[in-house]
Amino acid sequence: MVFSLTDILSISDFSREDIEFVLQEAATMEKMPESKKSGLLRGIVVASLFFEPSTRTRLSFETAIQSLGGEVIGFADAKVSSTKKGESLSDTIRIAGGYADVIVMRHWIEGAARRAAEVSSKPIINGGDGSNQHPTQTLLDLYTIKKQFGKIDGLNVGMLGDLKYGRTVHSLLYALADFKGVKVFLISPESLKMPQNILDDVEGKVEVRETEKVEEFLPQLDVLYATRIQKERFVDEFEYEQIKNVYILGKEILKHTKKGFKIMHPLPRVNELKPELDSTEAALYFEQARNGVPVRQALLNILKDVKKE
Ligand code: CP
Repeated sequence: MVFSLTDILSISDFSREDIEFVLQEAATMEKMPESKKSGLLRGIVVASLFFEPSTRTRLSFETAIQSLGGEVIGFADAKVSSTKKGESLSDTIRIAGGYADVIVMRHWIEGAARRAAEVSSKPIINGGDGSNQHPTQTLLDLYTIKKQFGKIDGLNVGMLGDLKYGRTVHSLLYALADFKGVKVFLISPESLKMPQNILDDVEGKVEVRETEKVEEFLPQLDVLYATRIQKERFVDEFEYEQIKNVYILGKEILKHTKKGFKIMHPLPRVNELKPELDSTEAALYFEQARNGVPVRQALLNILKDVKKE
């Protein structure tokens, strides 16, 4: 398998074979003894540029880098970088590329990672760009699903919450459209529906149904992928306050779900999943977050030798 991508910008750039390749490499990473893994990134410097807050994405990338013997430089807050002095994204990326072999970045502007890739001589990994995409999250989501169910084809996947602003569900829907026989059930308030342009893009590739009521499709689901309402993306705070607790799921939902049903969530959660779910067999979200490490190890190991034109 030749992995042809030189940057990880959008899951839409991946073929099914590309996705399967990364999942296979992640499984290899997870099984590989520490002693064998620990030199894979020796001599490699990764810039970790987080212009927007993060816990999981940044820490799991940094864990992945260190566990493979690489070095990490960067910042976790744009306010401590020269962005604060007015430096452009393009200049920051060019400079970081002079110090590092790979750049991982998160930015609040949609398309920022693609813009960075245009000016960077080093591979760019998009750790989330505004409401647009979060491709490495999707790869770890798919890895988690495959590990749990042994397959992705044919599963019934619910996506709940803020489907308008949630970049994780945008990327996940595109990815699921590459698999066979997957049904996606979109559960959101009318004002936070999946954007029409994304629905148009996946039309004919994946069966999609929409509802506002979580109970409508619950008994059919293998996985419910819950998301928080993205407070930071709302222009009108009053609108957020009106809708923020639209879904609050507790143990009672498990009376209506099928055997083997799992709940996933990219995290952080706010109120949408009650802590009482955490100790149930349905809760897969903490394992999901842990899977970020082997998946990101695999991506870094694949990209470390990439030479961009
Ligand atoms: N899932 C995710 O992207 O979490 P962070 O925002 O904490 O990185």
